[in-house]
Amino acid sequence: MSAPILTRASRLLGIRYPIVQGGLARVARAELCAAVSAAGGLGQIATAGLDGPEALRAEIAKVRAATDAPFGVNFPLGRTDITAMLEVALEEAVPVIALTAGNPAPWIKRIAGRAKVLVLIAGPELAKKAEAAGADLVATVGYEGGGHLGLGDETTMVMVPRVVRAVSIPVLASGGIADGAGLLAALALGAEGVEMGTRFVASVEARAHARYKQALVESQPQDTAIIKRSLRQPGRVIRTAYTEALNAREAAGAGPEELVPLIAGEVNEIGVGEGRLAESYVWAGQAVGLIEEVLPAGEIVARMAREAHAGLARLRAMLQPTG
Ligand SMILES: Cc1cc2nc3c(=O)[nH]c(=O)nc-3n(C[C@H](O)[C@H](O)[C@H](O)COP(=O)(O)O)c2cc1C
Repeated sequence: MSAPILTRASRLLGIRYPIVQGGLARVARAELCAAVSAAGGLGQIATAGLDGPEALRAEIAKVRAATDAPFGVNFPLGRTDITAMLEVALEEAVPVIALTAGNPAPWIKRIAGRAKVLVLIAGPELAKKAEAAGADLVATVGYEGGGHLGLGDETTMVMVPRVVRAVSIPVLASGGIADGAGLLAALALGAEGVEMGTRFVASVEARAHARYKQALVESQPQDTAIIKRSLRQPGRVIRTAYTEALNAREAAGAGPEELVPLIAGEVNEIGVGEGRLAESYVWAGQAVGLIEEVLPAGEIVARMAREAHAGLARLRAMLQPTG
């Protein structure tokens, strides 16, 4: 095992490496979460796509049976009422609760110090709001990322230092990170860790069809596309016949009543669970260009830590030449 990477984020979360697996709707269940946490990162169970509070309780029990390490539960806000599932997470004393896509303030009040709160945002303004609402740390997602994005098309490289300047709580860099060089770059930009989605979808433990994982390995950044722009909820996917048709309808002026059924969770499941990508949309970021194979999630974490240490040695040699 590589030496720990200690930042305020890794200390706060009680983890060896400041590598957080994003809440991945339908993809991140107990197996993935436990594998990431057992390797020294922070795994998360995604509540999106889970079948109610008791299903969440069962996933939490599976994680606890596999590892004593800290882990999180991720809640997208806005679309469904999270009250009952959040109550389960609090009853079960889950160490970290992640909130995204909505106003976290009332939920942070309800959590009231019973778990560490990570809020996923995009940019300095939302970061400040999350800090004022009582978040313990934020993850800021740049334009390269997979899944839902900010409205400003701002890249991770520019966004991370701006968010670091805007708040005093620890910041995780997210969007386009998939290896140790990305981790090291994030730390260099002032972040205190990373949050990653796409890389962990291409892992053995992810609940994703083999064809989805293989598509991530084979895709280039140009094979991703953004959908749902007209709904002001842009999200990055693998470009498929389905997403091309969806974007053509958006361009032709289709309204929410036509678009919303086309982007329902059940349609996402056709790709995630059944691997019929041409009939579905599946989330993925430009980091696909960095993914060469499907790996065990623990190996992804271990490799990143090794690569970050080796990368630092390389940088030291450049910055402090001895010859
Ligand atoms: C398949 C998939 C599903 C996602 N679902 C969620 C989710 O339910 N909640 C959430 O906070 N973020 C979700 N995200 C965003 C990730 O947590 C993370 O912020 C993003 O993937 C970072 O960019 P990257 O893919 O380049 O690593 C999802 C991303 C992907 C790829």
